[in-house]
Amino acid sequence: MMYAALRSIGAYAPSKILTNEELSVMVDTSDEWIIKRTGIKERHIAAKDEFTSDMGVSAANIALDRSGINRDEIDMIVCATISPDYFCMPSTATIISHKLDLKNVTAFDISAACTGFVYALSIAKAFIESGMKKNVLIVGAEKLSAITDYTDRGTCILFGDGAGAAVISATKDKSEAIIDIHTGSDGEYADLLMTPNGGSGSAHDSLAQEASSCFMQMKGNETFKVAVRTLTKDVEEILETNNIDSSEIKHFVPHQANLRIIKAVGDALKLKDEQVVLTVEKYGNTSSASIPMAINDVYESGNLKAGELMLLDAFGGGLTWGSALVPFSPLK
Ligand code: COA
Repeated sequence: MMYAALRSIGAYAPSKILTNEELSVMVDTSDEWIIKRTGIKERHIAAKDEFTSDMGVSAANIALDRSGINRDEIDMIVCATISPDYFCMPSTATIISHKLDLKNVTAFDISAACTGFVYALSIAKAFIESGMKKNVLIVGAEKLSAITDYTDRGTCILFGDGAGAAVISATKDKSEAIIDIHTGSDGEYADLLMTPNGGSGSAHDSLAQEASSCFMQMKGNETFKVAVRTLTKDVEEILETNNIDSSEIKHFVPHQANLRIIKAVGDALKLKDEQVVLTVEKYGNTSSASIPMAINDVYESGNLKAGELMLLDAFGGGLTWGSALVPFSPLK
């Protein structure tokens, strides 16, 4: 039996920073309000000519270099994104494979919003365990600034740009393996967080022609409540299924949407502060990039050691959700 192991992590954040003070000039808000309600101080914004694939490539290059796996051995790329370079096609994953000069790899995008990285991880795990692939590069990359309405104070304060990537590879050693991944969805709540225009659902609508057609719209307050409930339930279920106590988790890496959501979930699960990874303050919500960017922060601060158990927990538009029990297993 082959298992799937997370070998390496990498991330990229664009150099331009958008502060709360700068947003306060653009919409009717304040640094104090944003920090109090979200915990966010700043977010990174991609340059005009910097695409989602460019950020994905930067993160992927770091993850590939750290993996110890020859680039020729990568046989699949999965890119999770809701802000692809191009609407419909080509996929951002194929553009990333070309920019990385990886030939003949299976490459495709998935759309699971902020749960995208956990979904991509589950796909990599399934392909590897079935024996179809051996070394999978997964990327969560977002240029959310391209689909954010900077006249809407309810959303523009939340989102930022960035990318994260990980290399997942086959192993026979069960102690290195990703333990379990749970994913789910409920389309009944589709209208909580969506880009309502621009797709086939509005193809004959004049709105679809407007530049703002792909902007995100959100029912923030309702989303908040469902997020806390779902994220908590997710974790309880995956820990119980695998007979693992929350004290055994070294790093709880939740989707970084809002500090108050993360604190509410951490409290409900009785997690200690030192277990909870927080990056929302400096990146805001980067959707599918949020979890790998957070793991990368732990890694680069020297606090992610081989064998340590991570619990990933995500929630996003769709609605989608997912959790994963993942030991960090770099090649020895
Ligand atoms: N600055 C100042 N005031 C703002 C504001 C802003 N940026 N955004 C909203 N407000 C105002 C509202 O207009 C409202 O004013 P009113 O009482 O006069 O009507 C008041 O603040 C409260 O609005 P509400 O929407 O209830 O605020 P909130 O405490 O729920 O915070 C969010 C708003 C968006 C920060 C919060 O709902 C949230 O984070 N939701 C989850 C979003 C999320 O995680 N999405 C991604 C999921 S992957």
